[in-house]
Amino acid sequence: MDRVGIILAGGYGTRLRPVTNSISKHIIPIHDKPMIFYPLSILMLMKIKKIFIVVTEKDFNQYEKLLGDGSNYGVKINYIFQNEPLGIADGLLKCEKYVKKQRVCLILGDNIFYGSDLKLNFTKISNTKKNTIIGYRVSKPENYGVINFDKKNKITLIEEKPKKPKSNYVVTGIYFYEKYIFEYLKKLKPSKRNELEITDLNNLLIKKNKLNCKIFGRGYAWLDAGTFDDLIETSRMIATLEARQNLKVACLGEIAFNNKWINKEK
Ligand code: G1P
Repeated sequence: MDRVGIILAGGYGTRLRPVTNSISKHIIPIHDKPMIFYPLSILMLMKIKKIFIVVTEKDFNQYEKLLGDGSNYGVKINYIFQNEPLGIADGLLKCEKYVKKQRVCLILGDNIFYGSDLKLNFTKISNTKKNTIIGYRVSKPENYGVINFDKKNKITLIEEKPKKPKSNYVVTGIYFYEKYIFEYLKKLKPSKRNELEITDLNNLLIKKNKLNCKIFGRGYAWLDAGTFDDLIETSRMIATLEARQNLKVACLGEIAFNNKWINKEK
């Protein structure tokens, strides 16, 4: 697999204070495991072995203790520092010199995906040589990057947290990019909130007809855990699924074993 994974786990997690005064947001548990296990499991399901985790220097020790170099789970983890919350695109740009011209799957550290055939569908997308984003229908699109479509359902523009959203479909926090993406990233300027916006990158790609959008339908769950209410809701969903089936969601050991990356003893 010539694709590397990048998990963004920087930021201050201001909406989860005071917990985030001493604990990194992406380590807070969702039901029975740290939040970051969920996006990490998605990369592992796609058999992506080389993974960069973008963290603040202050939080690095916590991740080091939790995941180390990844060898317990058969992956190779490196940590990249992003000390200030300068945006998702800035986090991606900071990985450039380590990624060394490989294709990238970027996933936000607080994003949780669940659904049937997730592994199959993500793997298919990952194997396609096209920049791809995933759209998902939500009830409050104004909190996200909102996808505008033309009459033929072709994506025309993404509007970042618009007051009057033009659709209910939003951009989820997983992005598949081709090798040349860093050239486009360098063209971005900071937004009004002083961030390099991933939405600006995607709009540049749309203009050049270089961005695919795949919609995940009602058979999928996509959640992001940014607030205390999100933590409870997401935890409840995972707890219900796990108790009912006696199977774990995002069990890194199980995925690594099924990928033949670790043996039974490990
Ligand atoms: C970011 C993106 C937004 C996307 C969302 C998905 O929002 O800017 O387009 O819909 O992630 O989680 P932010 O985390 O900056 O609020």
